[in-house]
Amino acid sequence: MNYQVIIPAAGLGKRMGAGKNKLLLHLNEVPVLIHTLLVFEDDEACDGIVLAVSPSDQEEIAKLIQRYHIHKVIAFAPGGKERQDSVYNALTLLDNDGIVLVHDAARPFIEKQFIHEVTAAASEYGAAVIGVPVKDTIKKVQDKKIVETVERSSLWSVQTPQAFRVSVLKEAHFLAQKDGFLGTDEASLVERLPFEITMVEGSYDNIKLTTPEDLYFAEAIIVKREKKEK
Ligand code: CTP
Ligand code: MG
Repeated sequence: MNYQVIIPAAGLGKRMGAGKNKLLLHLNEVPVLIHTLLVFEDDEACDGIVLAVSPSDQEEIAKLIQRYHIHKVIAFAPGGKERQDSVYNALTLLDNDGIVLVHDAARPFIEKQFIHEVTAAASEYGAAVIGVPVKDTIKKVQDKKIVETVERSSLWSVQTPQAFRVSVLKEAHFLAQKDGFLGTDEASLVERLPFEITMVEGSYDNIKLTTPEDLYFAEAIIVKREKKEK
């Protein structure tokens, strides 16, 4: 099942504290953004990438894309104030047909197997996301006091890619815009339609590079994969 993918890459990387967009930091001598793009470039089921970038990064990113021979970027969309705005700007560039994935540029370790599983589920049911069961016991806290222990067996951490029929995701974004609703992922917009979303179990390797210590985990994942290849 083929798909197009929106990759939001227009953040500021404030929590990483690198003084620039964290996606331009290098892992194994290759920028994070390129690691992510290469996964989709090398996936035969990917028909095209729409990349949301801030105008101040676009020239540098366009050069990197050339240098690493990435051919599937069909359009740049202007980054917006929030991630949701960046995705919206990219979404308006797509036709209404087929399946669209949204995948954070800051998750370079996504594997093809999970991309294909979430795409297949979206093609069957209309909406699907990747996630993993939470490992910690989660408490609800107010004013530094525990209010409740949330039943863990039903809790999942949600990642990307999140996959949708294009028409479903567009409708969800239009509704969110109409209501002034801001969500941290696409699923939270689609849930409001309402529309049932399938959870596909992914991998704990698919981390989002958010704070500096995530870079240590990233190095470890790279070492593990290099060993596996040998
Ligand atoms: N993103 C985006 N447009 C925004 C904000 C975020 O395209 N206005 C992208 C980021 O580039 C990233 C993904 O959305 O690939 C997930 O966001 P996050 O991890 O929060 O990255 P940043 O917003 O860059 O980091 P921070 O919140 O620490 O500033
Ligand atoms: Mg952010």
